[in-house]
Amino acid sequence: MTETTPSDSRPSPLVVLSGVNKHFGALHVLQDINLEIVQGEVVVLIGPSGSGKSTLCRTINRLETVDSGTITLDGHPLPAEGKELAKLRAEVGMVFQSFNLFAHKTVLENVVLGQVKVRKIPRTQAEETARALLERVGVAAQADKLPAQLSGGQQQRVAIARALAMNPKVMLFDEPTSALDPEMINEVLEVMRSLAAEGMTMVVVTHEMGFARSAANRVLFMADGRIVEENTPEAFFTAPRSDRAKDFLSKILHH
Ligand SMILES: Nc1ncnc2c1ncn2[C@@H]1O[C@H](COP(=O)(O)OP(=O)(O)O)[C@@H](O)[C@H]1O
Ligand SMILES: [Mg+2]
Repeated sequence: MTETTPSDSRPSPLVVLSGVNKHFGALHVLQDINLEIVQGEVVVLIGPSGSGKSTLCRTINRLETVDSGTITLDGHPLPAEGKELAKLRAEVGMVFQSFNLFAHKTVLENVVLGQVKVRKIPRTQAEETARALLERVGVAAQADKLPAQLSGGQQQRVAIARALAMNPKVMLFDEPTSALDPEMINEVLEVMRSLAAEGMTMVVVTHEMGFARSAANRVLFMADGRIVEENTPEAFFTAPRSDRAKDFLSKILHH
């Protein structure tokens, strides 16, 4: 083999999962997961329902513990509990399918709160940051409304702004557009595309193959708790290697 592997061309990994296993009772939900994500990388995670995608995301910000293996963020193992865990959660932004905004707080307050409570940022500065982020995701005019007064797409953009307000090192998106009406999907994907273009490190669980093709550096295909296949989007979508991936793609691309 004359393959060259320039050892110093790849930046040091930001997120590393090494030999990670997790069970829910008898169910081996994560099976020997090894994964390195470098700074600025956009990883799209796809796979059938129940394959462990959400659980994998949730282990990265320690909403779930693991049974064995290690996870490090920026070289540090994930803390178990306490202040360190709160700090970690701030460093790993998470956006869920359901927007999870504080229903009784204004949009602005939703983006201010974590900054003040967790990051200990002075309120005036936190509000300034919040307004700038709301502007960036295109909902500045909604700042004084309650979440329920916004469309789903707007609420999800607020959720993204809220995560960004913590100045995270990595953003996890778990099916962020799955609960949205079709006409609102693109406004959320556009915000995610621009984040990716600006160099945010992102893990995205999504069925939006257009997004995966255009924004991902790498696609991971999961089935039955394992990463079965990983490749560039072009290679994955044009020539999936495993039968599981071929079967999955034929179902979602031709429905
Ligand atoms: N808290 C839990 N307790 C028990 N089983 C769970 C729990 N969360 C998820 N599971 C199971 O783990 C498997 C993987 O779930 P999940 O990570 O949500 O998959 P995906 O996001 O790929 O659909 C599923 O079989 C699901 O039912
Ligand atoms: Mg899921």
